[in-house]
Amino acid sequence: MTRETWATRLGFILAAVGSAVGLGNIWRFPWITGQNGGSAFLAVYLGIVLLVGVPALVGMFVIGRRSKRNPVGALRELSGSNSWGLVGGFLVASSLVLISFYSVVGGWILRYLGESALGLATGSVGYFSNPGAAFASASFGLEAVVFHLLFLGLTALIIVAGIRGGIEVATKWMMPAIFLLLVGLGAWASTQAGASEAYAFYLGFDSQTLQNNFFGLLGPAAGQALFTLSLGVGTMITYASYLDEDRSLPFDGASVAVLNTVVGVLAGLVVFPLLFTLGIEPGETGTGAGALFVGLAGAFSQLPGGALIATAFFAVVALAALSSSISILEISVSFLVDEYGLERRRAAASVGALVAVTGSVCALESGVFGFVAGTLVDILLTAGLAACLVFVGWVMGRDALVEFRSGSGPVGRAVSTPWLFGVGVLIPTFLVFTLLTTFGVDGRIGFWPTVAAAVGVAAVAFASLRGERSLV
Ligand code: PHE
Ligand code: NA
Repeated sequence: MTRETWATRLGFILAAVGSAVGLGNIWRFPWITGQNGGSAFLAVYLGIVLLVGVPALVGMFVIGRRSKRNPVGALRELSGSNSWGLVGGFLVASSLVLISFYSVVGGWILRYLGESALGLATGSVGYFSNPGAAFASASFGLEAVVFHLLFLGLTALIIVAGIRGGIEVATKWMMPAIFLLLVGLGAWASTQAGASEAYAFYLGFDSQTLQNNFFGLLGPAAGQALFTLSLGVGTMITYASYLDEDRSLPFDGASVAVLNTVVGVLAGLVVFPLLFTLGIEPGETGTGAGALFVGLAGAFSQLPGGALIATAFFAVVALAALSSSISILEISVSFLVDEYGLERRRAAASVGALVAVTGSVCALESGVFGFVAGTLVDILLTAGLAACLVFVGWVMGRDALVEFRSGSGPVGRAVSTPWLFGVGVLIPTFLVFTLLTTFGVDGRIGFWPTVAAAVGVAAVAFASLRGERSLV
């Protein structure tokens, strides 16, 4: 059986952008940004997207295209070691944790879409009368389980249709629709009463918070940056494994990060003005994961034609969520197809059955959901990505450079060596440090001593390894 590939040049990039643009941009971003004080968080987050996200994306593409395998097969084959296969297994397992809560939020979206569309037909939207209570009833419990299963089922259906017929077709027209609608909604949101207060919170540069709480922001900002770029669970490895031509991987990585960031910032320009108009502090206790739903529902309800706007909005968010959830589920499907020779259909059914259960736990227990969606996923993604980057720098080494340069022209050639040093040494060091801050360690060790020591040790080791294997 020959392995599937993308049909068009554009297909891969749109699928990768489709994976990146999702609930992370529209639902998780305002929640986490609000929790961490707004603009200062935004600054740290954007810095990490640029300095960590772009090189890391390229690193994942390098692993995928070089190996043409799922994450387990990729790390095992490229290293010739089963231990690295286990690291791949960690990625696959993390992707299952991720899809378990992602699918619950996807279910909330479907429910709001359904109620909005129904309201359009009947003239009254159920959740408009009391957005807070409506979210409380939608969020955790049996109905949440039902909508989670619906969302998961839709995801599995696209997966079953395959790389070209399912994922590529689906993502091709979702992306422009999302973009246009967000621009329209952002223009409308700018006319709302809370707009200027919101812009100050979101865009005003707040150097005080930045200074006082820089280390506190690192963990959540790194987590959100990886989450939004679909890094750390093997999605980008998997998608790049279906590439068969030599296109510029650095160019593709930069495109994905830029497009994802544009959509993310736009979503903030829609969401924050609406929250402030309603007098809801983003991140206020009790709103949290529901900020998007409560805030937007409240705003839509006060508008003439609100049902129509709400329907359009939730339709677009549903599409964005689906184009991401397929990329998460595809990881374990490709694993079962590659490693166990399962048919795509059977693989999707097996993984779907498992996630039906694990997702239901998240849909029933708000405590589990909050821990998994807010904290655990940051830790899993950060650890997973750090391991993959160490792999690129230290195990692939010279092969990674060859793959990076292939198709990337003179500029790619020029930046390839600094890139390898960045992904092999600097970025993993940084990621491990952010992990430590998550566990509150920075207060005892201190940032610069840790970084200096780690970079020093790693650089010496890297240089000697480079000499031995003549990496460049
Ligand atoms: N990037 C997606 C989003 O922002 C989430 C995701 C994370 C998808 C990891 C795949 C892998 O919604
Ligand atoms: Na995203």
